[in-house]
Amino acid sequence: MPFNDKSNSRFKLFSQLAEADTAVVSSSALTENLGMSRQAIFKLVGTLREEGLDIESIPRRGYALRNCRDADALSPTLINYFLKDEKMFSKCVYIPEVDSTQQVIKKLAAQGAPEGIIVVTDHQTLGRGRRGRTWITPNGKNLFFSVLLRPKIATGDVQLLNLAAALAVSGALKEEHCVPAEIKWPNDILARGKKLCGILSESAGEPDRVYYAITGIGVNVNLPSGNINEDIARVATSVQVETGKITSRPLLLSQIFIRFAALAGMLSDERGKAEILSIYRKNCATLGKEVRVIEDEKKYLGTARDITDQGAIIVNIDGRDIVLAAADIQHLRQV
Ligand code: BTN
Repeated sequence: MPFNDKSNSRFKLFSQLAEADTAVVSSSALTENLGMSRQAIFKLVGTLREEGLDIESIPRRGYALRNCRDADALSPTLINYFLKDEKMFSKCVYIPEVDSTQQVIKKLAAQGAPEGIIVVTDHQTLGRGRRGRTWITPNGKNLFFSVLLRPKIATGDVQLLNLAAALAVSGALKEEHCVPAEIKWPNDILARGKKLCGILSESAGEPDRVYYAITGIGVNVNLPSGNINEDIARVATSVQVETGKITSRPLLLSQIFIRFAALAGMLSDERGKAEILSIYRKNCATLGKEVRVIEDEKKYLGTARDITDQGAIIVNIDGRDIVLAAADIQHLRQV
């Protein structure tokens, strides 16, 4: 699998159409700029349409792109185009159905794939969540994707990558789509107390060096309330339920990555890490709340006090501050 698609002809043709916005680009301009025959361009337009892109052919004039920012199909060319200025992301690969995007990335990592490869799918058959749980939500409506990172950080700082991902998702949802998104430590994204997105980070390495990290993100996007399984409707929501609108999944995915690239890039030095932690502390809705902590079979009530420099949570339980690196937390109320 080639690891960079930004120079292939499909991407170049799409870029020419996208730069013209919705104006018609003449076939002669395309043949000249791309150094391809009309026949080759006709074929490439067909492959872009197969990705779900709306390209109109105007007889004897040329081609025009329609509704690119509203497109909901997970077109890898569109996603690569939205991420064209992001150096961290090399390529987005779309696979219609997979067991888990985490598994696909794990295999690519073992083959030496570079940082920044994104795998996105419409349907996961074995989607995985935190703490060994499953993550299965309806296909064709949500976002399921994972990205391979090769960060220059110590293994103990992988949790900070997790926090950066939570900031990226909540920021994109709040600032670009007006979703009342908030972060529940470490990286659940909630809206009005219901879960909207889950993030799973896994890594391989030695104590002082991470070989690779995989961040997997699942967002409930275009799921009307009636489609949310009755068992989970009490605790889950979607972007559509929160905004009343259909949201373009490629657009949301790239907005998340543009933020994630900036935040993850800050983790390579101490100043950047301190800044991420400070932004996270301001944005983590868990802090100051009365919480229920669930650790294996045990449950405790306490008050969430702070986040440590490595991203663990400090909960005051019966007057004692306890540091929890990994646990399930439920919000009870503001103290
Ligand atoms: C959680 O338990 O909250 C984390 C859920 C993470 C789900 C995403 S969907 C894309 C990626 N592939 C997986 O199998 N899991 C993650």
